[in-house]
Amino acid sequence: MAEKTYSIAVLPGDGTGPEVVREGTKVLNAAAKAENVSIDLHYFDLGGDRYLNSGEILPDSVLQELRSYDAIYLGAIGHPEVKPGILEKGLLLRLRFELDQYINLRPVKLYPGIESPIKDKGPEQIDYVVVRENTGGIYTGTGGISMKDTPNEVAVQSMVYNRFQVERCLRFAYEYTRKRNQDKTLGLVGKTNVLTHVFDLWERAFQEIGDNEYTDISRDYFHVDATCMWMIKSPEWFDVLVTSNMFGDIITDLGAITQGGMGIAAGGNINPEGVSMFEPIGGSAPKYTGKNLINPLAAISAAQMMIYNLGEHEISDRIENGIIQALQKDIKSLSSGKMGLTTSEVGDKVAGYAAS
Ligand code: IPM
Ligand code: MN
Repeated sequence: MAEKTYSIAVLPGDGTGPEVVREGTKVLNAAAKAENVSIDLHYFDLGGDRYLNSGEILPDSVLQELRSYDAIYLGAIGHPEVKPGILEKGLLLRLRFELDQYINLRPVKLYPGIESPIKDKGPEQIDYVVVRENTGGIYTGTGGISMKDTPNEVAVQSMVYNRFQVERCLRFAYEYTRKRNQDKTLGLVGKTNVLTHVFDLWERAFQEIGDNEYTDISRDYFHVDATCMWMIKSPEWFDVLVTSNMFGDIITDLGAITQGGMGIAAGGNINPEGVSMFEPIGGSAPKYTGKNLINPLAAISAAQMMIYNLGEHEISDRIENGIIQALQKDIKSLSSGKMGLTTSEVGDKVAGYAAS
């Protein structure tokens, strides 16, 4: 009998989502079994196909049910026959908002054996974490279009933050920096030179919370445009970065490519007091669908983040070790189709190392 059981909601989603989720759960099960923990998986059919067949995106009853799981494991959202925005807003963003997953945690970590596209930078230099605010800012959709289809048409989409949202995100980032226990440096990424309302709020809250509650943590500030430059030139400067929703979205794609690309980048949508959701940050990659060629490592990493977040650090270490070993011994390239192995073979290799 397993000592402990976790109940996980699995949303394989669209495109290659089901293929990568299959490998992620394979590895998760193997690593958990080795630690005498069992993982109970409950599958939910959500995504483009369901929408096209029934018009349903995220029924309220399903949303309600998802609240009862220990965590949610998501494959990919995005369907070539569905207009962009419908599934993203109706499913992914709605889940983040409704479940109040106000943090998007995105590690940027280059594993040994992977060549970074940045010359002369290796695993020593590329190892930091972006804490992206995940439920506010421009993503709230505040605004609208008036006088549509006339020459005077006006479109407004506002960056909206209140003190509460900013503070809870900053506190999470400070706590995370403390627990990570590396350089103990938290960098705020903003645009205080232009967005003088919103980032004035962020900056004041950042300094006040730092002065009053986190005197053990050093503070940095970077404008978002300069951050893009430093992420390439001097990624070793960064320990933990905290930023708004939109800026976090943008800089984490840049971060992903510096760690080897979408094949390896994972993220966690975290509600520290509720149900969190973990996902590979790449899309549904329709051109690879059903070919058993897509790189599943990002989804495997997402499963690792999920089990770490549930407090099972040994299982997480097993999975991370499995990824590192497979990268060193078996996987030729992180690019889908060039791995030298199929999707399921990558999963088999990682699962084998994780279990042993
Ligand atoms: C991400 C994605 C999403 C976002 C899209 C698909 C809505 O780009 O998770 O980074 O913008 O947050
Ligand atoms: Mn994105």
